Amino acid sequence: MTMPTQVTIGPRHVAIIMDGNGRWAQSRGRPRLLGHRAGARRVREIVAACPDLGVEYVTVFAFSTENWKRTQSEVSGLMSLFRRYIQTEANSLLEQGTRVRFIGDRLRLDAKLRGLMDMIEALTAHNTRVNLTIALNYGGRDEVARATKRLARDVASGRLDPEAITDETLPRYLDTHVLPDPDLVIRTSGEARISNFLLWQSAYAEYEFVDTLWPDFTRERFEEVLSRFGTRERRYGGMTA
Ligand code: IPE
Ligand code: IPE
Ligand code: MG
Repeated sequence: MTMPTQVTIGPRHVAIIMDGNGRWAQSRGRPRLLGHRAGARRVREIVAACPDLGVEYVTVFAFSTENWKRTQSEVSGLMSLFRRYIQTEANSLLEQGTRVRFIGDRLRLDAKLRGLMDMIEALTAHNTRVNLTIALNYGGRDEVARATKRLARDVASGRLDPEAITDETLPRYLDTHVLPDPDLVIRTSGEARISNFLLWQSAYAEYEFVDTLWPDFTRERFEEVLSRFGTRERRYGGMTA
C-alpha cells in the first residue's frame, strides 16, 4: 500500500520583523552598524530562497516610524546602508526575477534615497518570480492615519459615500493595497511583540517568534519556521473541520 502524500500548504506571504542586528554586533564588541550590514546580507539569502519554498511575497521591516528616535549616527548609517543596498543589489534582484516595492511614508526620507527607491521599483516592475516589499519609515498606525486622510478626502469630494464603507474599503487606501495579507509573521531576536508592523493586514496571520538574532537567521532557520506553519490549522473564526 502506498502512503498518502502529505501535502502541506506553505504560506504565500511571509512578513518578517528583522530584529536583533544591534545585539548581534554588540555581543561581538562591534558597532551596531556592523550588525545592520550583516542583516542586509541575510535579506538576500532569504529572498533568494522564497521561490523554491513556495513563498510568493516576502515583506521585511527595515525601518520603523519610531526608529528615528535612535542616535543620529545610527539613523544616518542606516539611511546610507539603504542607499547602498539598492545600488548594489539592483541588478541581481532584476536578474533573479524579484519585484521590489516599498511601503511606509516616503516624505521624510531624503531625496537621493527616494530616487533610488523609485528607480528599483520601476526597474523590477515586470518581475513576477517573487515580490519583495521593504517597509521603510513604516508604522502600522501611521499607515492607517495616512490612509484615513486619503479616504476622508474622497468622502469630502463626493467620490466615496460614507454609508458604502465596509471592511474592504480601508485596505484599498493602505500602502499594501496591491499585496495579499500576510499568512505568517516572523519576528527574530526573542522579542514577542509586533512593534507597529502591518497592524490591519495581520488580523489572521500566524505569528512565529524565534530567538535567533536576524544576522544569524539562515535559510535553514527560515525553512524550519515555514515547516511549523504547515502543521498549524487556521480557522478564521470558524470551527475545526
Ligand atoms: C533591527 O535590529 C533593525 C532595525 C530596527 C533598523 P535592531 O537595531 O533593533 O537590533 P536590536 O534590537 O537593538 O538588537
Ligand atoms: C522593529 O524593531 C522595527 C524593525 C525591525 C525595523 P525595533 O527594535 O525597532 O522594535 P522595538 O523597539 O524592540 O519594539
Ligand atoms: Mg530591535
